[in-house]
Amino acid sequence: MPKKSDSLNEINFYDDENHFYEDFWKTRKYEHFSEVLAINKLLKNKHFKTAMDFGGGYGRLSDTLLKFSDQVILVDPSKKQLDIAKKKFESKGQKIKYVLLDKKDYIPSEDNSLDLLIMVRVSHHIIDPTKLFKDIFRAVKPGGYIIVEVASNAHFLNRMKLLAKLKTPSKTPVKVGSVANGIKDTTPFVNHNPTTIIKQLEESGFKFISKLSVSNYRSTYLKNKFDTEKLVKLEKLSQKSLSYVNFGPSIFILLKKD
Ligand SMILES: C[S@@+](CC[C@H](N)C(=O)[O-])C[C@H]1O[C@@H](n2cnc3c(N)ncnc32)[C@H](O)[C@@H]1O
Repeated sequence: MPKKSDSLNEINFYDDENHFYEDFWKTRKYEHFSEVLAINKLLKNKHFKTAMDFGGGYGRLSDTLLKFSDQVILVDPSKKQLDIAKKKFESKGQKIKYVLLDKKDYIPSEDNSLDLLIMVRVSHHIIDPTKLFKDIFRAVKPGGYIIVEVASNAHFLNRMKLLAKLKTPSKTPVKVGSVANGIKDTTPFVNHNPTTIIKQLEESGFKFISKLSVSNYRSTYLKNKFDTEKLVKLEKLSQKSLSYVNFGPSIFILLKKD
C-alpha cells in the first residue's frame, strides 16, 4: 500500500460551511436521473460484494450502488459530506461504510480488494488523474469493474463552438471558468477529454468495456419546455447511440481489470 504523505488541504472545499453541495441537486433532477440511468445500464445483471463510491460526497449515488452490491464503501475527503451521508443512511446499518480520505491520489483499500469502484463528478477536481488511476488499478480485484465519469470538454456544443474558430477540443484538461455553488476560486476545476481519460485508464491496466453519453439534453431551454420525466425517457433512448460521438457533457466509462 502507498505511504500516506500528500496533504489533502487543497481539496477539502466541500467542508466549507458556506458550500451546500446538496442544494446544487435541487434544480438538477434531470441530470441526477440521467446519471442513475447510466449506472443502472452499465451495471445491469452484475452483482458485487464490495463497491466503493470514491469521492461520493453525501452519497447521492450510493443508494443506486447498493442495488448492485452487498456493501458500499463511501469515501470522501469532506467530513461534512460524510456526516450528511451518515444521517441519510442511518437505516442502512453496516451496508454502508464511511471512510474519510486523508491522502491525495490514493484509494483507502488493500491491494486487489474491491469488486467495483465508481468515481462520479470527481475527475473535474483532479488535473492529472494518472497517479490516482494507477492506485485504483492496485485496489481493484482482478475481474473487478470501475465506472469513471468524465466532465467532457469534447461535448457536441463545445465542438461546434470550437469548429467555428477552426479549432478542435484540447486533449489535455481545460480549466472551467466559474464554479457552481460557491466553491472557492482556488479549487481545481477542469473538464477532460474523454478519449485522453480512456487512454490513461488503459495505460493503468484497465480494459475498456463501454461508455454512455449522459445528460445529453442539459439545456435551460429544454428543461423549461419539457418535464423531467419526458427528458429522462428521451435520455434513456439515446445514451448509448450518442456515446459514439461523445455528444453529452458527461461521459460514463465502464472498464474492467482482467
Ligand atoms: C461534485 S462532488 C461529487 C460527489 C458525488 N460523487 C456525486 O456525484 O454526487 C465531488 C466530490 O469529490 C470529492 N473530492 C474532491 N477532490 C477529490 C479528490 N482529489 N479525491 C477524492 N475525492 C475528491 C469532494 O469532497 C466531493 O465530495
